[in-house]
Amino acid sequence: MSTVEKTFYIETFGCQMNAHDSEKVVGTLVHEGYNQVATPEQANYIFYNTCSIRDKAEQKVYNKLQHFKNSGKGKVIGLLGCVAQQEGSKIFDRAPHVSLVAGSASYAKLPEMLVQIESGNRRVTGLDFDNPEAFDTPYTRRDNPFRTFLTIIEGCDKACAYCVVPFTRGPERSRTSESVMEEARRLADSGITELTLLGQNVNSYRDPSPVGWDFATILNEVGRIPGIRRVRFTTSHPRDFVKPIIDAIDSNPNLCDHVHLPVQSGSTQVLDGMRRLYTREQYMERIGWMKAAKRDIAITTDIIVGFPGETERDFEDTLDLLEDVQYDAIFAFKYSQRPNTSALAMGDHIPEEEKTRRIMLLNERQRAIQIRRHSQLIGSLEEVHVEGRHESLNQWMGKTSQHRTLNFTGRDAEALAGAYVPVRVTRAGPNSLVGEAVV
Ligand code: 5AD
Ligand code: SF4
Repeated sequence: MSTVEKTFYIETFGCQMNAHDSEKVVGTLVHEGYNQVATPEQANYIFYNTCSIRDKAEQKVYNKLQHFKNSGKGKVIGLLGCVAQQEGSKIFDRAPHVSLVAGSASYAKLPEMLVQIESGNRRVTGLDFDNPEAFDTPYTRRDNPFRTFLTIIEGCDKACAYCVVPFTRGPERSRTSESVMEEARRLADSGITELTLLGQNVNSYRDPSPVGWDFATILNEVGRIPGIRRVRFTTSHPRDFVKPIIDAIDSNPNLCDHVHLPVQSGSTQVLDGMRRLYTREQYMERIGWMKAAKRDIAITTDIIVGFPGETERDFEDTLDLLEDVQYDAIFAFKYSQRPNTSALAMGDHIPEEEKTRRIMLLNERQRAIQIRRHSQLIGSLEEVHVEGRHESLNQWMGKTSQHRTLNFTGRDAEALAGAYVPVRVTRAGPNSLVGEAVV
């Protein structure tokens, strides 16, 4: 195939790990001489980097594939990511026009797999977890010049009863601290000032080299790199969330004062059924560390409603947890049965309407909490890392260290994207703040 024909289109579903994996895939393919294009029609290779966290996410992919059943003739269609890993070569039966099925642990071999396809093999798979390290490539194509992701650990060794991730992303593999630090320094040199350390369970990071850094150490060290002004991390598991992480945030102002700590349920009984490995009390102990910190740490969480066996009383425990913690944001989901997971055996007996009632009530309660918390910020001074501009509103938009969206006016003429601007908060809504730049 000539270079002209090596055009590819990629669309990404799911979480930040997937978004970042796509950046690595793009970087790798561009390095191999493929050209990225903006629409599937222009492309010879069409890739979907898929998510299977809930059934809805998975169905989106099949809808996309359906579309290319006829119009995809002459094109190579590749399924990447979590649905690919979960379904494997079964995809070829369901969608015979797909030629490549590859999970995230095999992306390093992507160029090789494409060569196989180019030489006539129409059924290529990459489904092994034999890559001992995280997918580590010098060719990542990062879209944002100021803030970006940095993978420190891949996979997950937990076995939450509802979760497909251990099956789609395999066992935990940590990168060496040397490789992480080297990439972080390179990013800082290129003008990046904000980094998000990524992993399905970042807290269980353990440097495989003799240095043996734990998560709190690498967090602190990345936050000390000259040029890096903000470090975030996601996602945390409460069981592996230890006090030294809070001590690090307290002692290093470059570590953002925000922790995303998914709780999933406020009922110890449901947590037990979910195999989360902590009780409500143990979770609250961690919240206590954050509340006792010197800095005001914003706390966000994920919650599942309608897990098998969740009674009205259990659900009330979750509602009550919102009041106890006073979260800054929550992401609530209706329970969805997933293949391979241990909760499958428990059935899915809570009716859809009841799940809807619970999720609406939960979001309503949380909205009231956010309105209250945000209104307390009126008058305060926040530092905003500017992301872009709402031209029609004549407003700049960015994030505070606590990961709140703050839209502001007062600085019109200059190019501000990437700058850190002090902003006085003047108004507050449930999901964002409005302010005026302090000149
Ligand atoms: N059903 C509903 N929500 C789920 N999540 C993970 N698995 C499921 C499932 N089977 C939610 C959890 C997790 C977030 C990323 O997605 O809350 O933290
Ligand atoms: Fe979706 Fe989970 Fe895979 Fe991320 S890791 S893409 S959330 S299934």
